[in-house]
Order: sequence, then C-alpha cells, then structure tokens
Amino acid sequence: MTGGRELVMVSNRLPVDRVVASDGSTSWRTSPGGLVTAVAPIVEQLGCLWVGWVGAADEQLEPFEIGSMRLAPVELSEDDIELYYEGFSNGTLWPLYHDVIARPDFHRVWWDRYRRVNQRFAERVAEQAARGAIVWVHDYQLQLVPAMLRELRPDLTIAFFLHIPFPPSRLFAQLPWRKSVVEGLLGADVIGFQQVTDAVAFRMTAERFTRVPALGNTIVVPGTADHPSRTVLAQEFPISIDAAAFAEVAARPEIQQRAREIRAELGNPKTVMLGVDRLDYTKGIRHRLKAFDELLGDGEIDPADIVFVQVASPSRERVDAYRQLRDEVELTVGRINGEHGSIGHAPLVYLHRGHTRDEMVALYLAADVLLVTPLRDGMNLVAKEYVACRADEQGVLVLSEFAGAADELRDALLVNPHDIEGLKAAIVRAAHMPREEQRRRMRSLRRTVYDNDVAHWATGYLGAVRAAAESQRPSQ
Ligand code: G6P
Repeated sequence: MTGGRELVMVSNRLPVDRVVASDGSTSWRTSPGGLVTAVAPIVEQLGCLWVGWVGAADEQLEPFEIGSMRLAPVELSEDDIELYYEGFSNGTLWPLYHDVIARPDFHRVWWDRYRRVNQRFAERVAEQAARGAIVWVHDYQLQLVPAMLRELRPDLTIAFFLHIPFPPSRLFAQLPWRKSVVEGLLGADVIGFQQVTDAVAFRMTAERFTRVPALGNTIVVPGTADHPSRTVLAQEFPISIDAAAFAEVAARPEIQQRAREIRAELGNPKTVMLGVDRLDYTKGIRHRLKAFDELLGDGEIDPADIVFVQVASPSRERVDAYRQLRDEVELTVGRINGEHGSIGHAPLVYLHRGHTRDEMVALYLAADVLLVTPLRDGMNLVAKEYVACRADEQGVLVLSEFAGAADELRDALLVNPHDIEGLKAAIVRAAHMPREEQRRRMRSLRRTVYDNDVAHWATGYLGAVRAAAESQRPSQ
C-alpha cells in the first residue's frame, strides 16, 4: 500500500498546524499531542491522504503535499471551533472519558454542531478516498464519522482508533447521546483502544445501549434490508513511539552536549527532575507541584540539591478548565520559588511553551528523574520517549498507575498520583536510587519499549484492519 488515496487518515487536526504570525506571514509546525507523535512516522513511510483541520479558523486551503502525505484540509469556522472542538469535544467528551476529573457539560447545541462537523469530515473523505480504500479515523472528536462514512461509501474498510481512555459504562451512561455515539463507532470494521479495560468497557457499553451482542473481541451488528450483518473487532492495540528515531537523536553529540549545557544552566544540581505535559488538568500537574512543595517544606529534599523543570505546552487555552489550571499552576510556581528559592537558584523552572524534538531529547538526557503522573491518560508517550532515549541505562521513571503506559512499563516506580505521601516517597526514592538499580530497571523498560515500538503497533493494528478488509470482500 503506497501513496495516494488507498490509505486515508482522518483526524481532527492535520499532523501540521498553520501558524499565522503577527506580521501576517504563515508557517507550518508539528501539531501537539500524542496522536501525531505516534501516527506520523508510520504514514510517512506508507504514504497516505490525510484529512483534517489546520488549527486556525476559516482557512480555506487546497490539498497540498508534505513528503509522501497528501493533506486535505477541512475548514472550521469560529463557531465550529467553539461548539464542536472546544465545546463537545473538549468540554463534554474529554472530561467524561477521563474519569470526570473535570465536570463534563452537556449542551444540545454543542452536540448538534459535533454531528454536523463529523458529517462534513465524512463527506470530505467520501469525495477523496479511492475505491476500496482503508480509512483510518482517529480519536474522540470524530466518533460519528465511521457510520456516516459507511452510509456514503460502503466500499471502504473503516478503522477507528481511540487515543484516549474509553470510560466505564456507568460514566458513559451520563451522555444524553450515548446511543448515537456507540452507533457511530460501530460503523467501523475495527475499533482500536489503548488498554484492555477500554476495549472491555466499550463492548459492555455497546451491548447495553444498542443491544448488539459481543462475542469475545467482536460485536455482531445485525443486518437490515439494505445491509448484511457485520462483525466489528473491538480490541486493545496499545500505541507506541518510533523508539529508534528517538535513540538516533539522543546519540547525536550536539544533543548530548546540549544536555550537559542544560544541567550547567540549571546550576549542576544533584538531581534534575523533569515533567513534560500539555497543560491539561488530566496530567496531575497540581498534585505533582503539591508533592514537590511539601518535600521542600518538610526539609526532606534540600532546595539547593534539586531543580524540577516542568514543561507545560499550551493547550485549549480558551476552554475554562484550562484557563483556570494555568492561573493556578502559575500562581503555585511563583509561590514555591518565592518560598524555597534563593538568589541565583530557583528550585522550579516552569516553561509554558512547546519544544522541538531535539530540545526535548536533550531535556530527557539531562533529567535524572522523569515524573509522568497523570490522573488519567490513554497511554502517555512521554514516558516511552524518555526510556527510548536513555541508552546509558540511567534515569528513573516515576509513572502513574492511571496512565495506559503503566500496563507495559512495570519497572517504573508506579504511583497513585492522588496519594501525595506516596508520590513524595517515590520522588525521594527516585532521587536517591543507586545506579545499579536504575540500570536494572531502565534496561528492562528499554526492552519493553523497543519490543513494542510503533512499527509493532502498526503491524498489529493494520494487520487486523487488512484482515477485516479481506473477510469482507466475498460478501461485497
Ligand atoms: C491528545 C488527543 C489528540 C489531540 C491532542 C492535542 O493527544 O488524543 O486527539 O489532538 O491531545 O490536543 P488538541 O486539542 O490541541 O488537538
């Protein structure tokens, strides 16, 4: 399968965002989030058509090419952004699917726009996809696209992948439009999830709200007068990273030099601790800062011995919960440094901006401890990136048991991020971990990440999709 329109990716965002500078000039930059990190390297190799939004309002752009990918922009108006993207996607679904850490809002106008924008995406794909193509729809913003697309183009094989958790049936039941969402997803031939628990929750939910029976990993959608019955595979396929690509960057002498510079710029403390997240309330940044603050306050860690660098890339800044989080985090950072810093030394460095991959890798190499402590996370690829970069087998990963990555990365220091005492103990243990124990843990983590890299994920997932395509052929 190469180039063109036989493989079609569909996601809310294209893998690149269009950035308009204050002087009106425009440029492209890699989109934020794990979806692009994981998926872009696979399709760069395979070639594909990618349908999505360019990240700015009212941009009417013709399809264009980047490497082996042809990108077909879907235009979103200011209202679409407010109601479909910030509203239903990130004000309803995102909190609902992340254990209602923030309260989801249910508004009929949001839902209505979500449906209309999903329809627009489906129509765009239907116009562009080659006959018999495989269409791979991504994430919670586009859950209605599979069924809409099947209506328009029954010749296509449709795959869906949910990059975030699927909630337990009890929480999903709150959604007034729960049945429509399940039916939307069941338009796919294969539905991929990050964890076993997500796949199980979905199958139970599908049985409960649409009364379709689940048999093992499959769900049987009964036929109608116009359509034969179909089986839908709903299974976990834990996503990963291009580990070798990260290792290559980490091996470059100038990146290693940059890592040394970073440590020197931070004053060569005994321990450099790092956090790397989108500034999102699911990531547990508040809890992490609380634990750090208390450790300095209790005297369990001497502020002179440690620097905690928290990279928080800007995200969804017009959504209330995100705005509040930013205010709170920035206040807390100021307070911690005010209380525990000294002239020439701030124990906490807060960077509210995105970083290039090179700069990220240098930070990973500079960090003795990486804190990945989300309250809920579909996978968390930052954890895997850190491990992939540490060829020196040094460094400690502190990982939340509520990140999908915890299923695989068992040799991290696993924590419950709500348990502030447990989090503090893990930080102290990480900061003092003997080199030999670091080596043993990191070696095992690296084996896991390399054995289960993104190529492995894509082979498994696309293998299942191709098998679905094959099995449908005779009945078409
Ligand atoms: C997560 C989601 C993606 C999303 C990304 C960035 O990784 O799974 O679907 O694109 O966050 O969020 P944004 O709202 O900026 O697209």
